[in-house]
Amino acid sequence: MTNKYMYFIANWKMFGGLNTLNSLHKVVKFLKNFKKNRFVKLVYCPPNTLIRPMTKKLKDSRIEVGAQNCHESDTYGAFTGFVNSKMLKNVGANYVIIGHSENRLNGENDKLINHKIKNALKSGLKVIFCIGETLSQKRKKNTKKILNRQIKIGLKNIRNNNVIIAYEPVWAIGSGLIPKLEELSDIINYIKNLTKKYKVLYGGSVNTKNILELRSINNIDGFLIGGASQDSKKFIDIIKKTYI
Ligand code: PGA
Repeated sequence: MTNKYMYFIANWKMFGGLNTLNSLHKVVKFLKNFKKNRFVKLVYCPPNTLIRPMTKKLKDSRIEVGAQNCHESDTYGAFTGFVNSKMLKNVGANYVIIGHSENRLNGENDKLINHKIKNALKSGLKVIFCIGETLSQKRKKNTKKILNRQIKIGLKNIRNNNVIIAYEPVWAIGSGLIPKLEELSDIINYIKNLTKKYKVLYGGSVNTKNILELRSINNIDGFLIGGASQDSKKFIDIIKKTYI
């Protein structure tokens, strides 16, 4: 039985409209009545269009809302199509995911990510900093080298309790695959030793079945969940099973 404070961060990616918020009351109700709720930290990161309506829906709950990315600038500017961390904070976000591999694959590098993290922290957001290796990097046994670089540059000159690290192997995201448990535990330890103070979450194909294995890894501080978090029933099931 787990009696540990755990994060469950829902990454909705580019999914969801106003009608998707209708099922949130199930999660709110579940959490209210859940015996272990004091150990559960739940954060939803919907698309930016849903941040405001979601904070309204969740206002009487302990569930918080975050964004999935932000622009690196901390002032307004001529950046068509972007929003910065201050603007996210202004509409009710308390968290922001930075460095997700889907954005790294679109050209975001470690230096830019470092810049984004600094400004997001300045704006008062908590940062969920994503790191992870690709399949070819894993095959070449370069996982730790890659994570080391992502952490060293991504967190350069940052010592802040408001950073949470999410280890998400790129090959595990949306693929149904997860790392071998011993390997995962070893990598989480590696990240914790490197960074000393940060919480470390796992993300990549977390679902209602594999959570029963994943929860047995003692050094994990929670999960970043994509696909399965969009379905309230599945999300609740994952949380429940973590505490069986
Ligand atoms: P997944 O996504 O759970 O659908 O694999 C996780 C993520 O990309 O954060």
